[in-house]
Amino acid sequence: MLLAAIAVGLLAVLGMPTYEVPTVKLEVEPTPARLSRGKHLVSMLCHRCHYDGRTGRLSGRALEETITGLGTLRAPNLTRDAEHGIGDWTPGELALLLRTGLHPRREHLVPPPVMPRWPRMGEDDLRAIIAFLRSDDPWVAPHEGGPEATRYSLVAKIRALVSWSPLPYPREPVEAPSREELEAYGEYLVDDLLQCSACHTGDGSEPERAELHDSGDYLSGGAVTNDVNGVVLRAANLTPHSTGLRDWTSEQLRRALVDGFGADDAVVRWPMPRYPAMEVHEVEAIYAYLQTVSPVDDAVEPSPPYKMVGRKADGGRHLYMSHGCHYCHGEGGRALADLSGANEDLPTDEELVAFLEDPRRDDPFSIMPRWEGVIAADEYAELCAHVRRLAAQSSP
Ligand code: HEC
Ligand code: HEC
Ligand code: HEC
Repeated sequence: MLLAAIAVGLLAVLGMPTYEVPTVKLEVEPTPARLSRGKHLVSMLCHRCHYDGRTGRLSGRALEETITGLGTLRAPNLTRDAEHGIGDWTPGELALLLRTGLHPRREHLVPPPVMPRWPRMGEDDLRAIIAFLRSDDPWVAPHEGGPEATRYSLVAKIRALVSWSPLPYPREPVEAPSREELEAYGEYLVDDLLQCSACHTGDGSEPERAELHDSGDYLSGGAVTNDVNGVVLRAANLTPHSTGLRDWTSEQLRRALVDGFGADDAVVRWPMPRYPAMEVHEVEAIYAYLQTVSPVDDAVEPSPPYKMVGRKADGGRHLYMSHGCHYCHGEGGRALADLSGANEDLPTDEELVAFLEDPRRDDPFSIMPRWEGVIAADEYAELCAHVRRLAAQSSP
């Protein structure tokens, strides 16, 4: 007991366990095709944590939505600034972190629930991401500053000692299936690249692929995460069962992944990622693959409902909550993206409505859902008034 208490005490004071860092040699030629593939991949894989709408760059942000109990998580600045960003990282260092989870500078493991790792990502895709991060794209233009460092909790440190470890760096280049093999490519997207299966299976602890497929609950929903309001969410059942996606069309799947709306036009709650730049071919591949997995009867319980507190008479607030704006902006207009700049960025209601109807008109990678056809024309006046109130209240 005493020893255990001492060990826990030590862990609380010490940092995460460290490892020896192998050297990875890699050169990456920045061809135009590679850079555009790289941006596409970064928009789907890294944007959701590392992008800050206020700077328009991958300058990092505080992750309010967290896996319960792992600490205060902050995605760092990935711009080319050498001091505040990753401007002086070598391609080999980036490859090591992305493949194995081992942080080449701090020598500790970045645990897979905190940031995914991609041991089976195709070599071309890995190189495309690295080329993009070193390019002169505005997303990675040097930016000074960024969030404070991540602080891991005692729970994270204990789990890092007993159940997590870095993966070995692959000895041979990893080859991805061809885009033409629809189901195989879909499997690659679901398991290896976008890792839908990590969130949508079991407890999200990222077992090996064979184990995942044989687990009996593959893709049947589960992993628990906090949303930006601290409410616990469970990921949906994606198998072709009536409690899963059996009755979904590929157009419905596209609408959930790209536009951000599920059945009945209900907004899909963050941190389920949105993929505004996902191609139709990619949706088709995911859809084709999901139809081949074993159906599992598992009705994922609905997450606890939000309390609709506040005066009934306040129509604007009611609309804001009932459409689910607070799932990303919080009740007070901050969280994933804060609304404090809205009065300056969108000074007239006409501009605000145009933005809400199609945020991707100005920024094709915007993860703000496209509300056209969801919010009724006569709802906008009150909703805009509420957004402007929040913007004024939450000015930086
Ligand atoms: C789920 C959120 C999440 C996603 C998705 C994510 N990251 Fe991270 N990333 C983090 C967090 C949190 C840290 C900080 C970990 C730490 O300090 O231990 C981090 C750290 C890093 C670092 C180390 C930077 C430094 O200065 O210490 C790099 C490089 C990085 N991420 C690159 C990427 C790339 C490239 C992608 C996409 C391919 C990506 N990340 C996707 C959350 C994420
Ligand atoms: C970071 C974890 C995470 C990842 C990665 C993820 N999901 Fe989800 N997903 C969730 C959560 C949490 C929910 C539940 C959202 C809710 O309750 O509103 C969800 C819900 C869904 C829904 C149900 C939408 C609805 O309204 O019923 C679909 C479909 C879905 N995800 C598909 C996918 C696919 C396909 C991928 C990979 C391309 C994926 N998800 C990747 C966490 C994730
Ligand atoms: C899935 C998450 C999500 C939901 C749900 C969401 N937003 Fe957003 N919103 C964002 C993000 C992220 C941004 C930051 C800009 C971007 O990425 O395009 C944003 C930006 C905005 C802005 C612009 C702020 C500025 O300074 O320019 C306004 C206004 C806004 N949202 C209003 C709303 C309203 C009103 C609702 C509900 C009807 C809503 N949002 C629902 C994610 C979301």
